[in-house]
Amino acid sequence: MTGIGFIGVGELALYTIKGVRRGGYQGPVLLSPRNREKANYLAANYDCEVKRDNQAVLDDSDYIVIATRPADCLETLRGLEFKPGQVLISVVAGIEVEQLRTALSTQVEIVRAMPVSSAEAGASPTLIYPDNAFVREFFDYCGNSIAVDNEIYFNQGSVLACVYCWFFSLFEELIQSTRGPALPADLSAELVMGMAKGAAQLALASKDISPGEIAGNIATEGTFSRLGLDLLEENAAFKPWREACELLQKQLAASD
Ligand SMILES: NC(=O)c1ccc[n+]([C@@H]2O[C@H](COP(=O)([O-])OP(=O)(O)OC[C@H]3O[C@@H](n4cnc5c(N)ncnc54)[C@H](OP(=O)(O)O)[C@@H]3O)[C@@H](O)[C@H]2O)c1
Repeated sequence: MTGIGFIGVGELALYTIKGVRRGGYQGPVLLSPRNREKANYLAANYDCEVKRDNQAVLDDSDYIVIATRPADCLETLRGLEFKPGQVLISVVAGIEVEQLRTALSTQVEIVRAMPVSSAEAGASPTLIYPDNAFVREFFDYCGNSIAVDNEIYFNQGSVLACVYCWFFSLFEELIQSTRGPALPADLSAELVMGMAKGAAQLALASKDISPGEIAGNIATEGTFSRLGLDLLEENAAFKPWREACELLQKQLAASD
């Protein structure tokens, strides 16, 4: 059976492995030992094997996920001996395929992937570049894979892995803004997240109308939705979101 090994067992490895196991992935999962606490936890609870060192992970894996922080990635890869036919999966943000290739002594296939922590809940929209059948199926166990055939798309799309985080801050702001004597916090939280999920599901299901058009159709003249949207727009509330996206786009494209 095809084995997948993780070099770097931090937050990403934790949520991804939990997600794929909960989603039914049954293949061998091997782990580097450096973060002993997380590796042992995954071994005990999610049917993984902790190997004695990084090279031992590589020696028994067909697919190797490099999941260190960006600053450690290339140095870690330089210390490893790959075999022809293996596939390197990099989840490391901001390091492109050509940079990864220069760190490898043996030329192997390289695939980039960007799972987010909703993988743990089986709901990560995971960008992949370039497409690879095993990698696509693996990340489908913890959500849905979205393969792209251009690394510029991947870099631009990776910005949304950060926007994903900002959504939580927006949820928190909305919960704090609507909770109070008239609405208990847990009910406010359920409604905030439920509305966000419902809006996303409707927008995904509405192929021939954009989210902006859906908003326009709801917020017609004289509605409470229009009143609030007008205030947000008068205060340029969406402008800093655009600016934050543009900032990250520049950073992620810095190496182009
Ligand atoms: N977390 C996210 O939400 C997220 C989302 C998308 C992409 N990513 C990408 O995923 C990567 C990992 O992120 P993370 O949040 O999981 O980071 P993390 O929690 O800091 O985990 C990284 C792990 O790699 C270990 N490590 C460093 N050098 C190593 C080596 N030579 N051999 C084996 N292990 C080594 C670190 O150990 P030490 O602590 O001992 O150094 C740490 O346990 C990053 O490159 C990030 O860009 C993360």
